[in-house]
Amino acid sequence: MMMTNNQGAKPKFFGRRKGRVIHKAKSFLLESFLPHILLDDTPKKDIAECFGAPKQRYCLEIGFGDGDHLAALAKREHDTGFIGVEVYRNGVAQLLSLLTGLKEGNAEDLAQEIGFAEGRVDNVRVFDDDVRLLFAALPDAAFDKIYLLFPDPWPKTRHAERRFINPDNLKELARLLKRGGILQVATDHPIYKRWTLEQMHANPNFKWTAKCSDDWRNPPADWAETKYQRKALREGRRPVFFEFERL
Ligand SMILES: C[S@@+](CC[C@H](N)C(=O)[O-])C[C@H]1O[C@@H](n2cnc3c(N)ncnc32)[C@H](O)[C@@H]1O
Repeated sequence: MMMTNNQGAKPKFFGRRKGRVIHKAKSFLLESFLPHILLDDTPKKDIAECFGAPKQRYCLEIGFGDGDHLAALAKREHDTGFIGVEVYRNGVAQLLSLLTGLKEGNAEDLAQEIGFAEGRVDNVRVFDDDVRLLFAALPDAAFDKIYLLFPDPWPKTRHAERRFINPDNLKELARLLKRGGILQVATDHPIYKRWTLEQMHANPNFKWTAKCSDDWRNPPADWAETKYQRKALREGRRPVFFEFERL
């Protein structure tokens, strides 16, 4: 079943869906491993349904890119259920490679190597399309934390309506977060920094938690660096790490 947004139309996605050719091991992972952890958009009454067994906490990462942050957290926090969402096929393949440790190898040995049967990765589920198509399937107050790390900034004014942080998406994120839950946003783009603060200040459901500049200049304690964060640092841009509490 394909979900649509409130207006009934499938939302337009402006980013890339595919990149370079995906080689043997990653293609294998997409075909044979992804289905084991793939979420569909059928409505879930309880977020625990997405996982084999109930977890203590639940987190959502939107646009996980190559999955460095998601995979690192999932490996550290076994009692947390992570839902990762990414449209970009090569990114999904890279996440699977990080989760399984599988890069290249003999295709016949691959399934055995990653040990599906042992449920080696049991705390990550993936939705491989636009997160707006998943929203309606997720129950209220499902998540303790939602990560939106280095979203596409769409810096031109004429593209401002493409920015992920906007009143419609914030309404959904507010619905999905528990009270006291955290929306974590990172960005290195000056226009997106300002845009985020303006949008969040205008939204009565969230409060910026920062008490001093160190709170947003430095990443939180559980941080794992992302590809776009490394790119920003290499190119001399300073990322910020905003945390907003769901009121
Ligand atoms: C600039 S990249 C950042 C990737 C990663 N978070 C990082 O920091 O390296 C933004 C990512 O968000 C994904 N994305 C953008 N809009 C999305 C949406 N509506 N649903 C799911 N993924 C989305 C894009 O495909 C892209 O991979």
